[in-house]
Amino acid sequence: MEQTEVLEWLEQADLIKQYGKVYRNVGLLIESNGPEVTLGDVCYIYPQAKRNTVIQAEVVGFQNEHVLLMPYEQTTQIGPGSLVESTNKPLSVQISESLIGSVLNGLGRPLDESELPSGLASYATMRKPPNPMEREPIHEQLSTGVKAIDTCLTVGKGQRVGIFAGSGVGKSTLLGMLAKNSDADLNVVALLGERGREVREFIEHELGEEGLKRSIVIVATSDQPALQRIKGAYTATAICEYFRDLGYHVNLMMDSLTRIAMAQRELGLASGEPPTTKGYTPSVFALLPQLLERTGTGVSGTITAFYTVLVDGDDMDEPVADAVRGLLDGHFVLDRELAEQGQYPAINILKSVSRLMQKISTKEHLQANGRLRSILSTYEENKELIQIGAYKKGTSPQIDEAIQFQPRIMQFLSQNMDESVPNNQSIESLENLINGGDS
Ligand SMILES: Nc1ncnc2c1ncn2[C@@H]1O[C@H](COP(=O)(O)OP(=O)(O)OP(=O)(O)O)[C@@H](O)[C@H]1O
Ligand SMILES: [Mg+2]
Repeated sequence: MEQTEVLEWLEQADLIKQYGKVYRNVGLLIESNGPEVTLGDVCYIYPQAKRNTVIQAEVVGFQNEHVLLMPYEQTTQIGPGSLVESTNKPLSVQISESLIGSVLNGLGRPLDESELPSGLASYATMRKPPNPMEREPIHEQLSTGVKAIDTCLTVGKGQRVGIFAGSGVGKSTLLGMLAKNSDADLNVVALLGERGREVREFIEHELGEEGLKRSIVIVATSDQPALQRIKGAYTATAICEYFRDLGYHVNLMMDSLTRIAMAQRELGLASGEPPTTKGYTPSVFALLPQLLERTGTGVSGTITAFYTVLVDGDDMDEPVADAVRGLLDGHFVLDRELAEQGQYPAINILKSVSRLMQKISTKEHLQANGRLRSILSTYEENKELIQIGAYKKGTSPQIDEAIQFQPRIMQFLSQNMDESVPNNQSIESLENLINGGDS
């Protein structure tokens, strides 16, 4: 280095380390005097007693010139006077293709606490959605391997769909089927705010060894601090973006978006936001579009996203469900009544919509789907009459037809967890069934 270069470097180098000091802890928040930070910066907190321990936290707000921090992990070691150092950077994760097949925590580190492989690229978790003008339109079907979806709710590569259901109606099982059976290049499965017991069950049972080989799983269970659950959603999305930009067709499966909204509410209330609808704070409704707009098509690859949304007592007008429905390109409603009848996947076709189906399906397929819907809806309208035996055969040709076809359709739509049917095959079966041939 030339002398002038050295001087220049010295002038720009940050040779003094600035520390802040913890002085208060209220609930989930830690307040410190300094250091100089911006919102979203990652900071290291050094507990005084344990010299070689470092706790990672994030700047979540400011109050009267004090910094409000929230640790990523549960901790009891921080005390008054603990030093706070800022990295002056927001959270980033290490990614490369060598991570395919691994299970990570909400911050992108291996869940089994093993070391990450070397040579990974550092990738920021908070990113802007692609420029709307540069996004490729959706034109290609995704074969999900689930008959009810491929035939009646066709999904395009790069489409974003909500799976709306009450608890225990089959959301996770359906996500598992999608992960195992779809023709995407890679699955990114985010299990956020769910029960710990379910994680291993999902990975071993629903996903299986073969499924895991083409997946990356992000886990932040309900016992993890709210911030780590929220970061899990951003980390999963960032991993998808990394692979999309390499040209991959990625499937993102996020279970559940409602629990992310709840985590954001927890964080918002702790940092002093006012509660609005159902106790949700304004930042919840700011987070949703920020997160959901990032998936979809990009310049080269695509992210097809499936977000589960919990609807209490099947109330579709619940504020999070309502906000999410407006942001996505489709919603699948799982029906408790169907699940109780053993009809799985319990998708209520008439209440569900794929907003892109018209654009990406053939005329014959759309015709068959239209007829199927009209048969199901005629049956639904007259269900009570039919079931109590008050309907007299021959009164209406439409109802006669509905009675004849409804059981066959329901049988066609039901599918075992381990069964996979490619979309061209199921669409052909639907056309045969509707046009009177054998299914
Ligand atoms: N395709 C299917 N075939 C057979 N049984 C199914 C199917 N899908 C779901 N089930 C049954 O429904 C039960 C609940 O499913 P699942 O755990 O997927 O629901 P969930 O909506 O994710 O529940 P939670 O709200 O508790 O997370 C499963 O244990 C299983 O018995
Ligand atoms: Mg579940």
